[in-house]
Amino acid sequence: MSGASASPQGAQALPRIGFLGTGRIGLNRMRALVDQGLVEAAVVSDPSAEMVRAAQEIAPDALVASSFDELLSHDLDGVVIATPSALHAEQSIKALERGLPVFCQKPLGRTRDEVVAVVDAARKADRTLGVDLSYRYTAGMEQVASVVRSGTLGQVFAADLVFHNAYGPDKPWFFDKTLSGGGCVMDLGVHMVDLALWVLHFPEVTSVTSQLFSKGQPLAANSDTVEDFAVATLTLATGAVVRVTTSWHLHAGRDAVISADFYGTEGGASFSNVGGSFLDFEARHNTGTQSRVLSQPPDDWSGRAPAAWAASVAQGGRFDPAAEQFTAVADILDRIYAR
Ligand SMILES: NC(=O)c1ccc[n+]([C@@H]2O[C@H](COP(=O)([O-])OP(=O)(O)OC[C@H]3O[C@@H](n4cnc5c(N)ncnc54)[C@H](O)[C@@H]3O)[C@@H](O)[C@H]2O)c1
Repeated sequence: MSGASASPQGAQALPRIGFLGTGRIGLNRMRALVDQGLVEAAVVSDPSAEMVRAAQEIAPDALVASSFDELLSHDLDGVVIATPSALHAEQSIKALERGLPVFCQKPLGRTRDEVVAVVDAARKADRTLGVDLSYRYTAGMEQVASVVRSGTLGQVFAADLVFHNAYGPDKPWFFDKTLSGGGCVMDLGVHMVDLALWVLHFPEVTSVTSQLFSKGQPLAANSDTVEDFAVATLTLATGAVVRVTTSWHLHAGRDAVISADFYGTEGGASFSNVGGSFLDFEARHNTGTQSRVLSQPPDDWSGRAPAAWAASVAQGGRFDPAAEQFTAVADILDRIYAR
């Protein structure tokens, strides 16, 4: 553990962080943390020289490690992981076993078992574990969660969550199940399952049914082909129903369709993207045919999840039992995949 480095103001030591994997999302989150002055990007590591150069543009003083072991040999206060999904669990556990807090991209693991192993390692090491379930941190979802939890909607009996990415992923590894863990459910559904459970305070889920497709054809359970369209229905112990629909490459007529609607006996709360955007969201409180805006763009949310983790590292980086929620989400994904 370090704690010796000084912030630009010279007043307070910034956590010294190692960044493992500086591809598309790794660079985005690294920039968010560095630009907000929340961490010192001490070491970076990525097998791609191009990606290392891009990381050095954000943090010119960062050291470059040629392997994860080399990165871990430096004096660090935490590790940010943004590698292909198959590596997340193993790499997270390795860092945690060294006593380092971890912020990992979603999915934390490809299966519930992998996620349980990471959460166990964090608990044992008493180190904070963050996962980039970034939509929780949008102003819109915070408003929706607040309205649902306030009881204003009465008894919430249904939720409908959608994430269509009309482009699909841009890297081949997403389409290899051993590297990604799955298709659009693993990539996008993880966010929507998390949002549903998080808003509703992680209720007991009594049954999960699902239908997965690839190029319009239904997929058999445990198919090696990754799904590009999926519908899952979760029944909660309260009797409420949650439907999650996700896809890649859908003829959606826009870049993305992202929404989370919660329906109660006294009203509804709705989160939806604006104009097909991946970044701009609106939240509304609906009563009958009336609709009241709760939040609108702009909202610079993408760096908030890593910022929250960095704040917990700065405060000692001890284990937060809320990490158990990652297991609850992974459990539902396993059930959607009928594992
Ligand atoms: N939170 C979100 O909303 C969100 C959004 C997009 C992607 N993601 C997740 O982020 C992860 C990365 O996605 P991406 O789109 O940035 O992919 P990417 O392919 O652009 O980046 C992955 C990077 O990891 C590097 N890498 C591969 N093996 C490595 C290793 N052993 N050690 C260090 N680096 C290694 C690659 O060279 C690449 O630069 C995925 O798991 C994805 O699901 C999360």
